[in-house]
Amino acid sequence: MAPRPLIIDCDPGVDDAVALLLAFSAPDALEILGITTVAGNVSGALTAQNACIVRAIAEREDVPVFAGADRPLLAEAMEAGHFHGRNGLGDLEFPAPGKGVEQAGAVAFLAETLRAAAPASISIAVTGPLTNIALALRAAPDAAQGVREIVLMGGARSEGGNITASAEFNIYADPHAAQMVFASGLPITALGLDVTHQIRTNPARMARLEALGAARARAACQFLRFGERVEREHAGHDGAPLHDPAVIAYLLAPETFETAAAEIAVETESALTRGHTAVEFRLSKPSAARWGVRADADAVFDLIARRLA
Ligand code: RIB
Ligand code: CA
Repeated sequence: MAPRPLIIDCDPGVDDAVALLLAFSAPDALEILGITTVAGNVSGALTAQNACIVRAIAEREDVPVFAGADRPLLAEAMEAGHFHGRNGLGDLEFPAPGKGVEQAGAVAFLAETLRAAAPASISIAVTGPLTNIALALRAAPDAAQGVREIVLMGGARSEGGNITASAEFNIYADPHAAQMVFASGLPITALGLDVTHQIRTNPARMARLEALGAARARAACQFLRFGERVEREHAGHDGAPLHDPAVIAYLLAPETFETAAAEIAVETESALTRGHTAVEFRLSKPSAARWGVRADADAVFDLIARRLA
């Protein structure tokens, strides 16, 4: 089967970095047309630089990186450096990448690529705030024709929030952008904390990954170990949740996830509940959106180990 054309929009971020390493390791299944970056975990400049660093680790400098929005649509900018280290890559030091970002910006790349694409042909993986996607759809509404589906990491329903009591970080960071994307009517699969909290590292899973020799596996383990430390310190949990890698795992093996059709809307007015995702399974009308409810964590880790080997 021909590899699936894919654009990855991200805010690296240690778990974004693992997601990128996984995606870069699957050229037989994913034809990555470009990486677009957005401010989120750390500044827009750092997320762009970090995407280039991870691309170099994966030896995939054939894939262009486009820098995108450096702030949310309307909300005040905020970061999550305490979860990702000051540099956004777990305060780990890597060689400066040989190749940087393209001249074109992320929003122009998204709009022009989707507008020129065959109908419903390009998948978009989003692992950060949805600012770039919202800006591209607003600048070029006709670009929507090229979208096959959007698979995003974001939101929370039964799990509660991780940045506030009621909101998950990606949606909280730019709730207006998230609401625009969910209201677009495009086919969206949202993998929120309800499902990503089911996919956590543990000693056996890490032992298998750390036994791999490839540079991409070693880097992924460094990112995951940092994530474990932060999860223990800030959330009191053992095991780092694989938020963003879940998006790539879904694209590579959707059968390892269970999703349900849902109406999904985002709170944008209240400071208290900003970024809350209201997920309604009792549909009043057909919905193109689906909500992740279950994941086979062992199957996801098996996929990651096979791909990073
Ligand atoms: O809430 C988890 C999400 O927020 C992940 O995408 C992580 O990288 C952070 O951006
Ligand atoms: Ca992210």
